[in-house]
Amino acid sequence: MPVISFASSKGGAGKTTSAIVLGTELAEGASVIMIDADPAQRLLRWSTLSPLPPNLHVVASGGERTIQTEIDDAKSRAAFVLIDLEGSASRLTSFAIAESDLVIIPSGEEQQDADAAIDTLAEIKMEGRARRREIPAAILLARTAAAVKSKLEKHISTELHKAGRIFKTELHRRTAFSSLHNAGGGLRQLNPEDVSGIDKAILNAEAFAAEVIEILEGNYDAQAS
Ligand SMILES: Nc1ncnc2c1ncn2[C@@H]1O[C@H](COP(=O)(O)OP(=O)(O)OP(=O)(O)O)[C@@H](O)[C@H]1O
Ligand SMILES: [Mg+2]
Repeated sequence: MPVISFASSKGGAGKTTSAIVLGTELAEGASVIMIDADPAQRLLRWSTLSPLPPNLHVVASGGERTIQTEIDDAKSRAAFVLIDLEGSASRLTSFAIAESDLVIIPSGEEQQDADAAIDTLAEIKMEGRARRREIPAAILLARTAAAVKSKLEKHISTELHKAGRIFKTELHRRTAFSSLHNAGGGLRQLNPEDVSGIDKAILNAEAFAAEVIEILEGNYDAQAS
């Protein structure tokens, strides 16, 4: 039932990849509908590459006129609804953000990414103001090196921490994650003979999914009290 959107005003920030990682991870134990709301339809393309688990469905959005109905419909059918958005502001993006219980903003540790993440947070805040509710959002450091951080990376990470909520888990830059776009399916379906580091990527994905659940539960608690 919770709706989780992936947004960032920067193209290539890691929205689709992070959505695939989370969607396939959540589908290990729950029903998931993923809505491809990016006209480029990279999520839809991924979904056709190999068979998906029976409780994971990917649907393409018909656009700004239908997105709200599509979200309502998905909410009534699945335990989690994930929305992959395009990398620029649009009415479709606004509508999806307005319906979200959590907006995840992937960002690399480069200045352009950080600026885009901060812009996106501001857009979400504005959207929340218009809808008269706070829309929970969190930045996900994505495509980051698993090694020790450089001075610049530390600086950017500090800047992002000041800007808003940030996931403790980072989705590191790993071949296993980028391979999903070629192989289709989830990390557990990748062939260890073709792709290295699948185990570490799975641990990384599990930690990410656990933190998403923790944030969603916290939000629900906060609403209830
Ligand atoms: N954690 C990661 N590890 C390795 N590669 C990654 C990771 N995240 C993203 N990538 C790679 O970076 C590129 C851009 O990622 P992705 O398509 O997820 O970004 P996006 O924000 O959805 O972009 P767009 O705005 O164009 O839709 C892809 O080639 C993807 O394979
Ligand atoms: Mg994308």
